[in-house]
Amino acid sequence: MITKQKIIVIDYGSQYTQLIARRIREQKVFCKVYPFNKINKKILNDKTISGFILSGGPNSVKEKNSPKFDNKILDLNIPILGICYGLQLICKEFKGKIGQSRSREYGHSIIKVKKQSLLFDKIKHKNQVWMSHGDHIEIEPNGFVVTSLSNDKVISSIENKNKNIFGLQFHPEVHHSLEGKKILSNFLFKICNIKSKFKLEDFLKIKINNLRKELKDKKVICGLSGGVDSTVTSFLLYKAIKKNLFCIFVDHGLLRLNESLEVENIFKKKFGKNFIKVNASQIFLKNLIKIKDPEKKRKIIGKTFIEVFEKEAKKINGVQYLAQGTLYPDIIESIPFFGGPTAKIKSHHNVGGLPKRMKLKIVEPLKELFKDEVRNLGKQLKINSELLNRHPFPGPGLAIRIPGEVDKKKIDILQKVDNIYIKFLRDNLIYNKIWQAFPVLLPVKSVGVMGDERTYSYAVSLRAVTSVDGMTADFYMFNKTQLTEISKRIISQVKEVNRVLFDFTSKPPGTIEWE
Ligand code: XMP
Repeated sequence: MITKQKIIVIDYGSQYTQLIARRIREQKVFCKVYPFNKINKKILNDKTISGFILSGGPNSVKEKNSPKFDNKILDLNIPILGICYGLQLICKEFKGKIGQSRSREYGHSIIKVKKQSLLFDKIKHKNQVWMSHGDHIEIEPNGFVVTSLSNDKVISSIENKNKNIFGLQFHPEVHHSLEGKKILSNFLFKICNIKSKFKLEDFLKIKINNLRKELKDKKVICGLSGGVDSTVTSFLLYKAIKKNLFCIFVDHGLLRLNESLEVENIFKKKFGKNFIKVNASQIFLKNLIKIKDPEKKRKIIGKTFIEVFEKEAKKINGVQYLAQGTLYPDIIESIPFFGGPTAKIKSHHNVGGLPKRMKLKIVEPLKELFKDEVRNLGKQLKINSELLNRHPFPGPGLAIRIPGEVDKKKIDILQKVDNIYIKFLRDNLIYNKIWQAFPVLLPVKSVGVMGDERTYSYAVSLRAVTSVDGMTADFYMFNKTQLTEISKRIISQVKEVNRVLFDFTSKPPGTIEWE
């Protein structure tokens, strides 16, 4: 058991469900997300549940096949907060009336509190909130009172104090709802009476104990990439099982300048003989010859990685477990309401095929955590902060930042450019304001002039984005002085490049990586 009290978020397909979970975790309360159709007896029997939050969703409760409210949760007499679709489900369940507007109310709105409510304790009478709904309540359900109205006189919240059931038409989890955090905090601490906070120090102790019990004297292998997730996974496991952990670092030759050596230095010190580095760059490069298609590149890199890793792992006798740095957002099941499974944009590089092939059990010690929590856990494990705050780096590495054919020469050029660019960001204290920054080596050459000489060299494009989770992103806007300096440094120090472009595409419509 990780905490004595938790909140269950029931997902009805909202794009904001993960955001609700994050907002709860930010207040140091443990929570779990389940799709509405996966709420079973085992979950309902969990005595540590202190409250339910019903998410929004893209459907209308009036549609025949829309997700239904499971009224078994009412028998538990535990506080419930419905948000948007969740509120409408409550309204329907208690025989209120739902109306359908012709157009969606979307964006900022002002609500006025009409009746004192614990949910609105210590928040202003008039509040800016974020709305995104088509349906609305026309007549409040039996036993409920209206506690706030929007400027357009739409019912924006209801409650049944006796039953401890609350509903909000707006989205408190979205930061445009200015008092959203306080409203959620009121629900957690004043209504659900959460006293037991989720502390990472406790998590660490409990996790280490549990890992010791689960793994006993079994051998575990862990693939290291030098990224945050695999690093924290390995440090945590090391604390629990010490010499039974074996870390394999496959250097595919597609890393940043000097990164392979840096990774080796850090981990050799920590794990000694149990750190195994495989220099496989020749194999990867050979397999990538003449490959231009981005998906083919990704598949080849993934497959080669598995082959190299497997070969190395087999050299260690008696391994039974494979450790993976899976995080909570990776395992939250999403509901494909939008007409079937979401279209696959890119096949991500992972080691998903390995455990089955090698008949290994999986251990995923971070699977309850969000990224910011993993970074904090890393701090407690005394991992170097520069490593913990590194920008994300994709599994297929620089290969997907070199559109077209990849070869050693191009990798060398891109490594030099990347090094100059990232150093500039660090030196000017911009690095931590950006979610991810990198250059892309374009498969074009152009004419330039340096001194009196004509040049005919490569062009690079600079990417820099801000984001919360990589799902959407905004391009970061440098000022002219900064762009001038970056471009000057790159062109003067990397003779193979004579043109620097800046990529000002957000996601969507672009993706963060070019391939
Ligand atoms: P995109 O390009 O899809 O990237 O907007 C979103 C985030 O995911 C990272 N990324 C990957 N990470 N394996 C990874 O571990 C991959 O195959 C992979 N492809 C993209 C990307 O760097 C960005 O942070």
